[in-house]
Amino acid sequence: MDNTAQIIYLIGFMGSGKTTVGKRIADKLGWIFIDIDEVIEHTTGMKIALIFKEKGEDYFRELERESIKKFGEMSRMVIATGGGAPCFFDNMDAMSHNGITVYLKMSPAALTARLMQLTVEERNQRPLIAGKSEAALLEFVTNTLSKREPFYSSAKLIIQNEDTAELAAERIFKCINL
Ligand code: S3P
Repeated sequence: MDNTAQIIYLIGFMGSGKTTVGKRIADKLGWIFIDIDEVIEHTTGMKIALIFKEKGEDYFRELERESIKKFGEMSRMVIATGGGAPCFFDNMDAMSHNGITVYLKMSPAALTARLMQLTVEERNQRPLIAGKSEAALLEFVTNTLSKREPFYSSAKLIIQNEDTAELAAERIFKCINL
């Protein structure tokens, strides 16, 4: 795989392990890890849930786009995006142009199980799933994932992530061959 790329983007649905796996890859490579949601919370001084509530989702998506653009000019970075980021504007094209996109793929059932393991407070930090019962969550994940899958699947590398984060990181590491 292209070993001149200096950015690895982890994409995938909420709960797919982008942050955990991304940190492991960054450690292995000695690169910097950043999480786009954290960047947005840091620069606005607001939690994602509050941005959605007070400014609306469209405003949040603009912030996501700006951050993706800004960090696209840097190098030696592993970047975890929010679950929706690849599916808005030309974000997926921008990421594919600037680095290697890696889709952490999981089934709706596995994603729902992972998201149900979070505390209620942690789930409430994610406005799109806040307050949902397990059944409602499974329905939401199934429907939303089917709409997002075409974007996610255009990633350069697709990794099934239903084992451990360490295993997923190792698989990615082998494939990218940096
Ligand atoms: C979102 C996923 C979240 C966050 C926001 C919206 C989405 O990020 O960006 O709540 O649209 O799927 P994570 O995937 O890191 O939870």
